[in-house]
Amino acid sequence: MIIFWIKNIKKKLFDEISNSINPHEVLKSSLLKELYAEIPKLPTQERADLGKQVNNLKKDLDKQISLRLTALNNEVSIETIDVTAPMDLNSKLPNFISSEKGSIHPLSTEIFVISDIFSRMGFDVVESRQIDNDFNMFEALNFPEGHPARDSYDTFRTEEGFIAPAHTSTMQNRILRAGKDKLENNEDIASISIGRVFRNEDVDATHEHTFYQYEGVYVSSTATLGDMMGVLRTFFENYYKQQLKIRTQPGYFPFVEPGLEFFIEKPTSLGGKHGEWLEMLGCGMIHPNVLKTAGIDPTKYRGFAWGGGVDRLVMLKYGIDDLRYFESGKLEFLRMFDK
Ligand code: PHE
Repeated sequence: MIIFWIKNIKKKLFDEISNSINPHEVLKSSLLKELYAEIPKLPTQERADLGKQVNNLKKDLDKQISLRLTALNNEVSIETIDVTAPMDLNSKLPNFISSEKGSIHPLSTEIFVISDIFSRMGFDVVESRQIDNDFNMFEALNFPEGHPARDSYDTFRTEEGFIAPAHTSTMQNRILRAGKDKLENNEDIASISIGRVFRNEDVDATHEHTFYQYEGVYVSSTATLGDMMGVLRTFFENYYKQQLKIRTQPGYFPFVEPGLEFFIEKPTSLGGKHGEWLEMLGCGMIHPNVLKTAGIDPTKYRGFAWGGGVDRLVMLKYGIDDLRYFESGKLEFLRMFDK
């Protein structure tokens, strides 16, 4: 009888151990207490026999408990990490690995906004090249070899003589040549190029070796400087969502004639004071030599172009005081734009 009783207790407690995360607790089971309470009630002979069996049971339980503890330990350490899963699912990652998702860089977001405004005005949008040659950087833009204005576009070159473009104007010749047939079919050339540009700068809060520009090229048989001012005003007022005061002053760029620097009055809503003017871009009527080099007859067609910094636009919009944040990869900065 007692043998069955003990067997039964053993089975039940083994089950409990294998389901428990704290298997030592099983030793406090009331089943054992009842069993121990039985021992003194038995005649001496049987008592010794039962004592032995109870001891064996205890040994078996101890063994089972230590097996269970080993299994529990292994369960924790062999838990697998699914490298293809979103990080949150792997809850035991070290806490220096963030489980946040990435977000779109503020410059990318604003490049979409700029592209959208111009495409609604009928411009097509292309990305500018990040490596180019002397022809597109200078020759085609009316800076012949040895022209002193080449010095204001100091940038980086590869050993083979390729150039990291110092401005998006490197796209002008390509756009003009590609659009030539349009002009002959009585359509206009209206194109925006946006992309990364490079300069050999001493880096500070307003100068970076790497930044972004947006460039517009428009050519038709009737284009005027007045049309250009209209396009630029429309763009800036759409971008900053308010009416603006604009101003120009003469500026020199070999690829335009006349050339202008274009200013807006810093809006009071963005912390500006009355009479605080900000230079936003360079612009002008496309120089006849630039049209000629692209195979367009400057006596029949005229055009305007502008080029300005995306970073500067965005800094003003969000009150960012240091250009270097954009390329810094600083998460504290980027998170502010995580919508
Ligand atoms: N590419 C000039 C610059 O970066 C700006 C510009 C573009 C001026 C087009 C006139 C026409 O300084």
